[in-house]
Amino acid sequence: MTLDIRACVFDAYGTLFDVNGPARRFADEIGDKWPAFSQTWRDKQLNYTWLRSLMGAYKDFREVTADALDFAMEANGMKDADLRSRLLDLYNNIDAYPDAVDTLQRLKASGRATAILSNGCTPMLSSGVQASGLGPHLDHVISVDAIKVNKPHNSVYEMVREQMDVKPDNVLFVSSNGWDAHAAAHFGFNVIWLNRTGQPDERLPGSFAARGEQLADVADFLKC
Ligand code: LAC
Repeated sequence: MTLDIRACVFDAYGTLFDVNGPARRFADEIGDKWPAFSQTWRDKQLNYTWLRSLMGAYKDFREVTADALDFAMEANGMKDADLRSRLLDLYNNIDAYPDAVDTLQRLKASGRATAILSNGCTPMLSSGVQASGLGPHLDHVISVDAIKVNKPHNSVYEMVREQMDVKPDNVLFVSSNGWDAHAAAHFGFNVIWLNRTGQPDERLPGSFAARGEQLADVADFLKC
């Protein structure tokens, strides 16, 4: 079956934006434990978004990211209010992966719409998109703020149809988060899972149109 992809929709954190960037930038201060610290911060951030959605106790991504940071700092014996504030602030100045701009440019040049669909809140996404230089290459930035429930709830993926006026069949969804990629495929999108770190397959429903390791693989897959 030939795919008819009209819109490419990206997860934000971990897919377009490098979530290890904030901790890496302070690696000297944090010490050798920075990768483990960064992983705990990220894991808790995701866990809290899912748990709060199930509890019906939504908090926006900025607050959840701060709560997760507090957990990760305490778990790693770190007490430093100034470092805490600098780490959080870096989420507003987050780096995009090096091939992000070029990939979005290739997709747009092929006539396809480009978008972010993220659990991030609008202010954080706006700052990140601006700081990373991705703004001119994105047609839509869609945040769960509007519905106050997080991915992987189906109602989040449904926002793409509503806001971009495109059918799931015509969407290529891109995520480096296996759980997100599976949920999007289960919803009905065509999906590329960018398995950046060689993770084993998740045992979850939904199968992929393709797999890749970096953003450029998306444009290569669409031959544009
Ligand atoms: C996002 C997070 C979950 O951007 O990576 O939605």
